[in-house]
Amino acid sequence: MKSMFQTAVMATKMSSLLKAGVLGVAASAFLPFSQASAAGDAAVGEKIGHTCLGCHGVQHYVNTYPTYHVPLIAGQHEAYLVAALQAYRAKTRSHPTMQANAALLTDENIADIAAWLSAQGAK
Ligand code: HEC
Repeated sequence: MKSMFQTAVMATKMSSLLKAGVLGVAASAFLPFSQASAAGDAAVGEKIGHTCLGCHGVQHYVNTYPTYHVPLIAGQHEAYLVAALQAYRAKTRSHPTMQANAALLTDENIADIAAWLSAQGAK
């Protein structure tokens, strides 16, 4: 029991450290290597997609902008997320904020983020 508790404390400390390092990791994840057909890597998606949580609040859903609707995207179908992000990026789906967000993403980034978000068990 005691060692399980210690393991949990360690994990919490580790995750704080990981969060502190997120910006550096996200920057390197934006390298322009694109493998269009590769399956999304949820671990990479979590790092890239961290900024999305400011609005979409995947963990402990918090609506940062109570005055307008921000859809909850955690647990959404992977294919839906890919289609939505590609549509924003191509500007075939209108919304200036999301178009600006999606404009920065490669196909691989989108696949990774979709793999991560769709794996979240939001209800
Ligand atoms: C500044 C706030 C903000 C940020 C940051 C943001 N979004 Fe959004 N997002 C929105 C809003 C508002 C909408 C609703 C737009 C609309 O009505 O089409 C939206 C819509 C979406 C949708 C469509 C959801 C649906 O139900 O159709 C997806 C998918 C999405 N965002 C993914 C992301 C991802 C991935 C990121 C990070 C790369 C991100 N968003 C960052 C505000 C934000």
